[in-house]
Amino acid sequence: MVRIVEVGPRDGLQNESVPIPTETKRSFVEALLSAGLFEIEATSFVSPKWVPQLADASELLASLGSPEGARFSALVPNRTGLERALASGVGRIAVFTAASDAFTVKNIGMTVKASLATFAEVVAAFRAARPDGWVRGYVSTAFECPYAGRVEPAVVVGVCTRLLELGVDEISLGDTIGVAAPREVRALTAAVLGSVPTGMLAYHFHDTRGTAIANVAEALEHGVTAFDASAAGLGGCPYAPGAGGNLATEDLVYFLERSGVPTGVDPVALARASLPVLGVLGRSPGSKVQRAVLGA
Ligand code: HMG
Ligand code: MG
Repeated sequence: MVRIVEVGPRDGLQNESVPIPTETKRSFVEALLSAGLFEIEATSFVSPKWVPQLADASELLASLGSPEGARFSALVPNRTGLERALASGVGRIAVFTAASDAFTVKNIGMTVKASLATFAEVVAAFRAARPDGWVRGYVSTAFECPYAGRVEPAVVVGVCTRLLELGVDEISLGDTIGVAAPREVRALTAAVLGSVPTGMLAYHFHDTRGTAIANVAEALEHGVTAFDASAAGLGGCPYAPGAGGNLATEDLVYFLERSGVPTGVDPVALARASLPVLGVLGRSPGSKVQRAVLGA
């Protein structure tokens, strides 16, 4: 069984400068749920000055309510973000650090070490307020940093170890700028699985150079069963120059199904789910499989 974590409403939209109405975001999330995607990273409680597109995080979550089966999560960068997340009632949060100081300083204004100290407080406070809650820890730039270059697997393992000490439920390793190829995925997975249980590991591949599906195939071979993806391949990081879109959910679902791994996702409903968002952005269907399904 493979878990797909749909990050389109968060990662997919955070980099877009055209304001997307909250109502369009709500329909997008609901269409993703109807297509059979239940784990959805809906938004971020980050600074609206840093990421204006997601300033409506509280309003969006309030408008979504608690549909049956939905597992919504949101990014939280600090105590202020945690307070906003707790007030919204969201039961799943994601803290996000990286394997490179140069990146975390640009992204959240902290070194990796300082971010881990902040997240230790955030996770403890979240656990106290939400004993039933769930926490993901992201490690961005797990292969390469846009500012500092290649990253050694041992550095990633060190950050993963600290996140496990903080008590996260899952670690998602981010190929933030979409550079990795399967050989590197093999090496990183082997190194990380020495410290992180397989069931706690997810990969978050950006598809900037078209290697994301090959990387998923490689990770699957090593027992990894959770992958992030974004409908229409939307995505990027405002503080990572050169970050292209995420692995498209349509492409991931197609690849898994044709590989004999059932997903429970309706490919036609999925291909249609992002159309209203693409309409606001003035963009055509973005992923290969989405275009094939829609005949676009
Ligand atoms: P800062 O400006 O250094 O924060 O930002 P500050 O603590 O100095 O506060 C300045 C002002 O912001 C204050 O308000 C705070 O209250 C307010 P003022 O007194 O000026 O009126 N503030 C906030 N307001 C709302 N929500 C908050 C918040 N925090 C402070 N949470 C901060 C520091 C971390 C907030 C900022 O750098 C930030 O928001 N960064 C987020 C950047 C981001 O979202 N990046 C993309 C997500 S990461 C990613 O995409 C990678 C991933 O996909 C994996 C991969 O691909 O590798 C996950
Ligand atoms: Mg990302």
